[in-house]
Amino acid sequence: MWTTSILVLHCFATLVLAGGSGGKNRTLNQLAVQQGLHYFGSASDNLSGSWDDEPYVDILLKSHEFGQITPANAMKWGLVETQRGVYNYTGGDQLVKAGKKAGMVVRGHALVWHSQLPDYVGTITDAATLHSVTFAHIKDEVKHFKGELIAWDVVNEVFEDTGGMRETIFYNLLGEGYIAEAFRAAHAIDKHAKLYLNDYNLEFADAKWETAVSFVQGLVDSGVPIHAVGFQGHLLVGQVPTVETLVKALSAFTDMGLEVAFTEVDIRMEMPFTDDKLAQQAKDYQTVVEACLAVPKCVGITVWDFSDKYSWIPGVFPTQGAALPWDENMQKKPAYGGIVAGLT
Ligand SMILES: *[C@@H]1O[C@H](CO)[C@@H](O)[C@H](O)[C@H]1NC(C)=O
Ligand SMILES: *[C@@H]1O[C@H](CO)[C@@H](O)[C@H](O)[C@H]1NC(C)=O
Ligand SMILES: *[C@@H]1O[C@H](CO)[C@@H](O)[C@H](O)[C@H]1NC(C)=O
Repeated sequence: MWTTSILVLHCFATLVLAGGSGGKNRTLNQLAVQQGLHYFGSASDNLSGSWDDEPYVDILLKSHEFGQITPANAMKWGLVETQRGVYNYTGGDQLVKAGKKAGMVVRGHALVWHSQLPDYVGTITDAATLHSVTFAHIKDEVKHFKGELIAWDVVNEVFEDTGGMRETIFYNLLGEGYIAEAFRAAHAIDKHAKLYLNDYNLEFADAKWETAVSFVQGLVDSGVPIHAVGFQGHLLVGQVPTVETLVKALSAFTDMGLEVAFTEVDIRMEMPFTDDKLAQQAKDYQTVVEACLAVPKCVGITVWDFSDKYSWIPGVFPTQGAALPWDENMQKKPAYGGIVAGLT
């Protein structure tokens, strides 16, 4: 009895010290799966030169930190169909192949988005042409990747920041009905991919989120094959909503029977970074992870690339950066520990 207790205590202590892994540290994806998520993933691409960077590729494709990969750019309309009707899936095919080889599932991103469009789309001024071009694009791309993807971001960023529908070329010429039609067109071709509406700043449960909730409820009520809502999660250090607010924001959609996921997480800060900002960032990442785990149908978390070396942030917000869990030298930051803390 006495010996058994010692043995039990010893095993318990070993497990606690090793993070429950029996001696080996678990990766983010292994911890996520252990908690019931489908994956912990990263965006990446073989377009920026990052895949020639050996320390980077070691983490992306060899470390098992990620169980899912999302193409940062390679499946966007502006890259796959630069001329109307001429498709180039080289980048997306490479990503699918590399991801599968590394044991990762792949999310498709994104079929219809008002940004990074080919030039010929932006100059269209009549509904009939835009409709025909848009649905030809959706059908060709979904068909090409059919069977390879667990999910598609069917429409991306369709709501205005202050609420209401975003006045994109698609909305202005086709009306909001193109969104339901896009889901139907994608589902008619690929019955297995989970179809997402993906947007940012839904995390705050404010006016933009209210628009999203009522719009998505309308799609669900009309039997549109929408399966999930993606919360991009492009957030700012120290300005991340509380777990409670995030759970409220996510649950509005899971209450409709949909899945949710954090699809593009990064948490940026004013540069230069300091130890205090990095410590706050660790807490902020932990908050996002805890919120996802608190919502049973939150299926996964994806960071929008994992190393600050390849983040899109400084290019778009020149005074900001350091948004990701690995630094520019591929070293884990406190944010990595924040994610682990959230996952354990
Ligand atoms: C586990 O992580 C700790 C802390 O980061 C590190 O010191 C240790 O070397 C790691 N062990 C293994 C087996 O990777
Ligand atoms: C097709 O796409 C790949 C990857 O973006 C690019 O390297 C290649 O030049 C493209 N091919 C053509 C014919 O445009
Ligand atoms: C990345 O792209 C380069 C250049 O197109 C290619 O030679 C290389 O094989 C690609 N890497 C992978 C893993 O697909």
